[in-house]
Parts: sequence; C-alpha cells; structure tokens
Amino acid sequence: MAIREVLRMGHPVLRQVARPVERFGTPELDRLVEDMQDTMAHEDGAGLAAPQIGESVRVVIFGVTANPRYPDAEEVPFTVLVNPVVTFLGEDMEDGWEGCLSVPGLRGVVPRRTKLRYSGFDARGRPIERVAEGFHARVVQHECDHLDGILYPMRMPDMSRFGFTDVLFPGDDPGPDD
Ligand code: NI
Repeated sequence: MAIREVLRMGHPVLRQVARPVERFGTPELDRLVEDMQDTMAHEDGAGLAAPQIGESVRVVIFGVTANPRYPDAEEVPFTVLVNPVVTFLGEDMEDGWEGCLSVPGLRGVVPRRTKLRYSGFDARGRPIERVAEGFHARVVQHECDHLDGILYPMRMPDMSRFGFTDVLFPGDDPGPDD
C-alpha cells in the first residue's frame, strides 16, 4: 500500500495512449490498484487513472459516496475498471464543471455525452458492464480520456469558463476532483 505522487499536466506520461492489461489477478495489478485506491482516498478524489501515477496501463478507478461536503454530488458506485470500452448511447450532450487531480486548483466546463454503456473487467478479470448517465457517465468519460492521453481542458470549447476553483467558487466547495 502506498500513496503515490499524482503527475501534473505537462508530464509526458499523461499524454500517452496507455497499453491494455494482458494478465489479471497478478501481484503487479493488485499493487497498482491498491496504490491507486490509497492515492485517490488521500487526495479525496472521485476517480483516478493509472497514468496519473505514472503507470501507462488501461486501469481506472472511480466512486463517489454520499458526502455531506457535497450534498449535490450524485453517488457513483466504487469501481475498478480495467481495459474499459465506452459506447455512447444517443447524441445528447451536457455541460458540467470538472476538476482533475492532475490539473490542481482549476475547474472548467466540459461538454460530455449524457448517457453511455461501459464495459471492461475488474482486477480479477471478471467482466463488468453497466449503463450510466449524468455525473456517473461524466466521471467515466473523464477517467477513460486519461487512458488516451486526454486531459479535460483539451475538451473545453469555451476557455472563458476555465479558472481557479477558489476564485470561481469563493467560500464554496464544488466537489471532488478526478
Ligand atoms: Ni483527471
């Protein structure tokens, strides 16, 4: 178990396309997932992708439990997702504020697909398949983008809606980063 350093925007690993996991149930994969969980908990994040701790493999974790600090945040089941595949359902998009542990202190409005199906595997290789909407779908898109070297500012069409969290939301806690 270890809390790892979260790489920040500008680090070349964050721009790489991560490679698929080929073997499940290995000590290496278990350790990676544990380190990601420890790091996400330490940073109080909503999600984390392996490249953010310098491992260019297709593993993401995410989850949001009810938190009195963020009464408006929708709950998202805690999930370890390996080799994810995302299929968008419908054409609908919606804007929402995002933050990222690799872009600390900033928030921006990002259009995302409203509804999608995601599939993949847990760390043991057991299949996962779910339909997600709203904030859950947003978190999945944000995390899976990390596996393709994409950070949320690269998805922003309107840079006037990008700024420092404490300036945008003075005295307010807008929720966890991912
Ligand atoms: Ni992120």
